[in-house]
Formats: sequence, C-alpha cells, structure tokens
Amino acid sequence: IEEWNIEYAEGKDYQSLKRAAEEIVNTDTPVAFPTETVYGLGADATRSSAVKAIFAAKGRPSDNPLIVHVHSLSQLRELLSDKGVLQTGNDPIPAIYRPLIERFWPGPLTIILPVPENTTLAPEVTAGLLTFGARMPRSILALSLLRLCGRPLAGPSANASTRPSPTAAEHVYDDLQGRIHTIVDGGPCEVGVESTVVDGLSSPPSILRPGGVTVEQLRQCPGWENVTVGYKDKQEGGASKPRAPGMKYRHYSPKAEVVLFEAGATKPGKEEVTRKRRVGIIRTESWKPALGLTGGSTTVTDTNGQTNGTSRPHATPSIPTDAPSRLSNLLRSVIQHQIPHAQRHTLDSSDTDVWDIDLGAETEAVARGLFSALRELDKKGVEVIFVEGIDDTTGDDIAAAVMNRLRKAAEIRV
Ligand code: TXA
Ligand code: MG
Repeated sequence: IEEWNIEYAEGKDYQSLKRAAEEIVNTDTPVAFPTETVYGLGADATRSSAVKAIFAAKGRPSDNPLIVHVHSLSQLRELLSDKGVLQTGNDPIPAIYRPLIERFWPGPLTIILPVPENTTLAPEVTAGLLTFGARMPRSILALSLLRLCGRPLAGPSANASTRPSPTAAEHVYDDLQGRIHTIVDGGPCEVGVESTVVDGLSSPPSILRPGGVTVEQLRQCPGWENVTVGYKDKQEGGASKPRAPGMKYRHYSPKAEVVLFEAGATKPGKEEVTRKRRVGIIRTESWKPALGLTGGSTTVTDTNGQTNGTSRPHATPSIPTDAPSRLSNLLRSVIQHQIPHAQRHTLDSSDTDVWDIDLGAETEAVARGLFSALRELDKKGVEVIFVEGIDDTTGDDIAAAVMNRLRKAAEIRV
C-alpha cells in the first residue's frame, strides 16, 4: 500500500500545533486535539509516564486499552516491527487490512494489530493485551500534529471517563479543565461518533465497536464480506465478555436520566419519569409534529443573554480575508458543522420546562449532534432526557453507531 499525499496545516494553525507538539514531546501532560470523529487526548504512545497521565486525567480504568494514532503507513510499520526497526521484505501490515486501509484511511476506522516482540509501545497502551488498535485520522489538524510530534500518539476520547465523548473543544474544557494545559480547538467534529473498531486477526473478521465506517462499507471489501458483529448492545447482562474492553463500562452518560425510545424494546413496569419538572428531548425532524410543541413554544433568553433558536453559544469564526485558502476551507467546514441547540418550551398545563433539540433528518447530522445534545441538556439542568431512537437495521448508515452509544447511555428503554 502506498502513502497518501496529505495536506498539512499552515500559518497560524501550524504555529499553534507546533507548540502543542512540543508539549507532547517534552512533558508528561497529555494534549487534547480534534479528529474527524471526536476529540482525542494525546500522549507519546512509546513513553509510559506520558501514557499513564492520560489514564489519570480521564479517570479511566487501566484495563481499557488505548487507540494508537499514526500519520503514515511507515510509522505504523515501525510499530509492527521488532524494536521498531523496519525489516525489508514482508510487509508487517496483515494483508486482510489492506483493502480497508486503502478505502478508509485516513478516516474513522481502527484496526486491531498484533503487538510485536520487543514492542516500542508503552505497556499501558495495550493494557496487557497481545494486540493494539491503530488508526490514521483524516482531520488535517490531527495529521499535522502527529507529524510534528514524530511519535505515534495514544489517544482515547478526551472526555472524563463515563461522560459523553467530546465533539467540540468546549466539551473537553468542561471535563478536563485543571487536568490538562492545552486543547487544540478545531471546531465541531465532522463525524461526531468514534471510529469503527475491527478485528481482522480473527476468522471471520468482526466489528468490535460500530462507528464512522458502516457494516455495509466493510462488507464491500475483499475478505470482509462475512464480517460479524462482535459487540452486543441489544440486550443487557449478556454472559459473553465484550472483546473491546472499553465496551463493558458505563459510558456516554450525561447526569440526567436517559430514556431511549426504540422499536422492539419492552416497556418497563414502573415509570418514575413522568413527574419530572425539567425535561429534555432529543429527536429527529420527523417527531416535531408528533410532540405538539410547535404551537405552545415560547422563545426565551438563556443565561448567556442570547435568544434561543437563533443563537449559538460559541461565536461563529469569521474568515480572515488574507488567510491562505486552506485555512478558509477549514473555517468554512467549522461553520458547516455547527450543531443545533436546545429550544425551551413551557407547557401550558403545568410548570414543566421542556428543552427540545431537533437533530434534523439525516443520520449523519444525528451522529454529529448527539453527544453535544446530551451535554447541552445536562447544562440546562434537566432531570430526564427522552431520546428518539433511529432505525439501525439497514447497516448502510452510521445509525448502528448512534444506537450503540444511546443504548449505553440509557437507563430505560421503551
Ligand atoms: O474515533 C476514535 O476512535 C477516538 C478518536 C480520539 O480517535 N478514540 C476513541 O478511543 O474512541 P477510546 O479509548 O475512547 O476507545 C477505544 C476503544 C475502546 O472500546 C477500547 O476498549 C477499544 O477501542 N480497544 C483499544 N485497543 C483494543 C484492542 N487491542 N482490542 C480490542 N479493543 C481495543
Ligand atoms: Mg472513549
């Protein structure tokens, strides 16, 4: 497989990234950085003291391994080689992954690889497993940071453990302020859910975590036609141990109770959720008429002094006229990825406050806005969040990733 021509950050971005890279290389404090999926918390994957600091900052259990981020295939090949020394001859990248790498890298796909003898990876990265996960992100800022570091970066999502993954720099700040020094702000993330984790070392290959690359896309690749689903999220309390260790923990949880509405789920006997005074709703466009909120809605001014519905809590970046075109493109994409915010409705018949977030009609938009919506409703102080589930049965969009995260976040499924 050949390397790609990757565009790297320039100008002001380059200077900021250079400082972030110096912090990663010279200190043990991890640095948060944007990727196309979610923000990551990066540290030199070959240095134990730096990797340990990731676990400490997140409050992450040490038996949950980290994904290693690379900017090139040669960097990956070094990681797969004894003592990091590349041998001529055989490609250390297992052949099963070649079609995937060609099609999906750089991008939201993590592949499970064997840890070589005398690995250069810090043992904390793999949490004692004989394999490690690797991914080449497609965010230009992430790729540029990786190249400037010259080191592979261990990078879990940059949230505090159990919280929803961060899809904007503000989310990282809310969770990790005081624990890290630097967040590289690249605006809202393009995909909004984490990478798909696949294991091609087992036969047949399997998906350990659904994510930004769909089952259908994987099935189109030679050797992956019969890829199986190796994660479980439909029924709770299954006997088999999840093969991606991170999938067993409480996850993606806002402070409010989450009630997920999905086809086929059984109704719980007791519903304590009906008497709540502060209610959040996360839904798609199609539910708007069904909720009957349109008529009685009132537009109010929130604590930022902004009018809901038209406001954005974070200033929209303006495009500097003298910036190189690449920077303008980056800013334009940031503007494109703005996500919807909550609207407040007061129900006439009671003193219940309803905060309603419409994530739109497209699955991609739902994925992009989901984590942010959970976090925003927490900030509004809602006690319960009702979430409209989406159809994840087709396999040809990233609905499986959305529903997987929601099932983990939800206490109640109706
Ligand atoms: O999109 C992403 O993948 C983001 C961005 C920052 O790249 N990263 C991310 O990392 O989601 P994290 O640590 O939050 O999730 C990594 C997942 C966990 O479920 C972990 O258990 C699994 O990957 N994992 C890591 N190494 C593994 C291995 N050797 N075998 C099986 N699962 C592994
Ligand atoms: Mg995570």
